[in-house]
Amino acid sequence: MAAMLKIGFASPALEKTGTLVLFVGSDLELSAATRKLIGTAGVGTIKRAISAEKFKGKERSTLLIPAPQGFDVDRVVVVGLGKDEEQEKADYVRLGGVIASVLGSASTASILLEGPAKWRADAEAAVDIALGLRLRHYRFDKYKAKKRDAGDGEKADQPISVTIHVEDPVAAKRLVRSREAVGSGVEIARDLVNEPPNVLDPIEFAKRAKELEKLGVDITILDEKQLAKIGMRALLGVGQGSEKESRVVIMRWNGAKAKKGTKAQPVAFIGKGVVFDTGGISIKPAQGMEDMKGDMAGAACVVGLMHALAARKAKVNAIGAIGLVENMPDGNAQRPGDIVTSLSGQTIEIINTDAEGRLVLGDVLWYVKETYKPSFMIDLATLTGAIMIALGQEYAGLFSNNDTLAERLHAAGQATGEGVWRMPLGAAYDKMIDSKFADMKNTGGRFGGSITAAQFLKRFVGDTPWAHLDIAGTAMSSPETDINKSWASGWGVRLLDRLVADYYEERD
Ligand code: BES
Ligand code: MN
Ligand code: ZN
Repeated sequence: MAAMLKIGFASPALEKTGTLVLFVGSDLELSAATRKLIGTAGVGTIKRAISAEKFKGKERSTLLIPAPQGFDVDRVVVVGLGKDEEQEKADYVRLGGVIASVLGSASTASILLEGPAKWRADAEAAVDIALGLRLRHYRFDKYKAKKRDAGDGEKADQPISVTIHVEDPVAAKRLVRSREAVGSGVEIARDLVNEPPNVLDPIEFAKRAKELEKLGVDITILDEKQLAKIGMRALLGVGQGSEKESRVVIMRWNGAKAKKGTKAQPVAFIGKGVVFDTGGISIKPAQGMEDMKGDMAGAACVVGLMHALAARKAKVNAIGAIGLVENMPDGNAQRPGDIVTSLSGQTIEIINTDAEGRLVLGDVLWYVKETYKPSFMIDLATLTGAIMIALGQEYAGLFSNNDTLAERLHAAGQATGEGVWRMPLGAAYDKMIDSKFADMKNTGGRFGGSITAAQFLKRFVGDTPWAHLDIAGTAMSSPETDINKSWASGWGVRLLDRLVADYYEERD
């Protein structure tokens, strides 16, 4: 639900516009090209303001100069880029977020993308800044009958038009389409997570996923009758106490060229889509239960990612699979003590009906493995509160049976700022979910709760390279950042898009 933000690209020039954005490193020198454009009077004004405000040019610091002398603009904003080393490692998406934060009530802005020598100011930098502007600008206000000021000085529904002046605007215009694809993917994920649970039930969620058909994604929606026939009884058990029917949605994007009749093996992403998690009969305390509308953030990320891949026509074959259920207590609800037979044939003793995500994912993982024989599977789930005890809300927990996949996820995390931290797996943890009555039980006790949950999933992936991301701490209600002011972060879309782009796409 982005408020109106228009971003364009043009050659370096001085515009008569609302806000002009310029850059300096900690040496506080304007680049020669910028000095030439703004002239001696302009340079003098900026120097005076820098010394009057004792501005140090620290990374991501900003200096606001209203009604600047010698300029035909309302305000100049000087953005600090820090020291040489910081300039070399600059996070341009984040920088875009910082810039968005100082545009305030401006309706037009122009960013002069020139800076110190160590700072890359090319087309790629321009489109990354554009992505950051957009992500920071995102608001979810569709249910506010009275739209009001966003509170942080950023007017929510005022249209704003930004021009980024860059050496090669043609290259930027070519590149920006893929960043727009990713930006929309993040927004789709945020929208889904922010939606209230009375609106977004499994059927409505499936309908939203089906919209990807417009981009050429193949969509299959499996209803309860089909799921029962296939044998996904672990997943169906979670939904059986809800008035809302469960669904599984399979999304297929075939972007790789078929080579001589053989199709490239797909990569696969699997998402937990518990549209609301009351805990079921093992009901949760009332305090904060409203947050459990976000227990479908894994599934939301998969939909956002599939959008991004399709919209930028990624040269990869990718499967997205999401299990959509509502976990409710009623007369037909699953009980602690029940034993269910999963699609894999393995039996599960239910100890706690609130450990429901693993039951959903177990069946979907097995189904994807058997049906599509993917080269890897990555699942995303708001799976455990325990992951926040272990890692806080900075990193998502990463569990994997494959070092290469884990290392690549780690690298993609460093590149995007969506960080993952690897956690252990092992036989001693696996033993903790053995059951007296069935092949396994769905909880492993108080200790190592995120690890025993991951061990449970591992029993459904066979030899397929697999990674599990526990995103309970990062996907929702996480601390605000320079690029996110919304309750839902859309975490994982940029990470996984980057993973695919860097390691799994065909090269021309
Ligand atoms: N959806 C919750 C995990 C969760 C908690 C996500 C808080 C986001 C914020 C999950 O289904 C759950 O209830 N897990 C239990 C597992 C326990 C019963 C073994 C938990 O974490 O307490
Ligand atoms: Mn639960
Ligand atoms: Zn849950």
